[in-house]
Amino acid sequence: MPEPIRVVITGAAGQIAYSLIYLIGNGDVFGKDQPLILSLLDIPPMMDVLNGVVMEIYDCALPLVREVIPTADPAVAFKDVEAAFLVGAMPRKQGMERKDLLSANVKIFKAQGEALDKFAKKTVQVLVVGNPANTNALICSKYAPSIPRENFSAMTRLDQNRAQSQIAVRLNVPVDKVKNVIIWGNHSSTQFPDARHAIVESGGTVSAESAIKDNTWLTTEFVKTVQTRGAAVIAARKMSSAMSAAKAAGDHMRDIWLGTPSGQHVSMGVISDGSYGAPKDVIFSFPVTIQNRKWTIVKDLPINDFARNMLDATGKELEEERQEALAVCEN
Ligand code: NAI
Repeated sequence: MPEPIRVVITGAAGQIAYSLIYLIGNGDVFGKDQPLILSLLDIPPMMDVLNGVVMEIYDCALPLVREVIPTADPAVAFKDVEAAFLVGAMPRKQGMERKDLLSANVKIFKAQGEALDKFAKKTVQVLVVGNPANTNALICSKYAPSIPRENFSAMTRLDQNRAQSQIAVRLNVPVDKVKNVIIWGNHSSTQFPDARHAIVESGGTVSAESAIKDNTWLTTEFVKTVQTRGAAVIAARKMSSAMSAAKAAGDHMRDIWLGTPSGQHVSMGVISDGSYGAPKDVIFSFPVTIQNRKWTIVKDLPINDFARNMLDATGKELEEERQEALAVCEN
């Protein structure tokens, strides 16, 4: 068996972590033969709750989990970590403007970037889940200059899984038969869920577009359903998506760790090189393939006028968020 790796989960006493810790500890993310040291960070008022989570981890009797370190100290939490799930963030409270949320959370990610820079392994892979995920990832990376920018990514996998599932339900096929759906841009309501390049493997491989035969649905209801799914879950559950967010975080990190299957791409927010006319130097969700823990943006997919407008709108929002976030950090 290999040596244990240190994995940090922030917001470890929260809802998403409650599902995510089990997936990781069970070997569903880093592999069934990879022992783990789980480092769990939350804020001081949550330490009692976190200790309850630690009790449950022990009670799960997970053979891969060799040590659990609950802490409120980033210096302890980030020490020598090889993978980081940055989930912890301030939730949006009643009456809070989006701007207030951005400003509160960006400061958390600035501080955690600095801590990663000081204490984590330089090869650490950092997945940002806490919202606004794309801009938090950008800020986190900016304040961790000794770690390659390519090692920071933001989660749009939940949106991808939602989109894939909508198509599978519509076609009445198992969800794993639908591949290569793309989420472009920001993890927000401006994201562009794009099924134009998706395929369906059901008695041969066909494009999702030709299987669905309803372009109006693909450019209206499908897009809207995926864009607003988070709000729909909150309205129904009175709490935000947690089980599905944890599953998506596991899927995202597993693909970074173990690579994407041949012929398939996945979506994640990564530092933009301006591909597809996206603004440079924002964390923009692109289709990527991954090998040896390095992602490559899938190039040369045709972009029609509809897609162009959608990509421009989400890119513009990311530029605005970047400007606001940098102003907060520099104050
Ligand atoms: P939650 O409120 O249940 O848990 C968040 C935890 O983070 C709390 O225990 C809190 O004490 C902790 N926390 C706050 N500040 C912290 C800090 N500085 N360091 C460490 N821990 C800190 O929230 P939940 O449901 O687990 O969601 C977490 C985040 O994930 C939210 O920002 C949410 O908007 C985001 N999210 C992102 C999704 C995506 O697709 N990218 C999907 C769903 C949620």
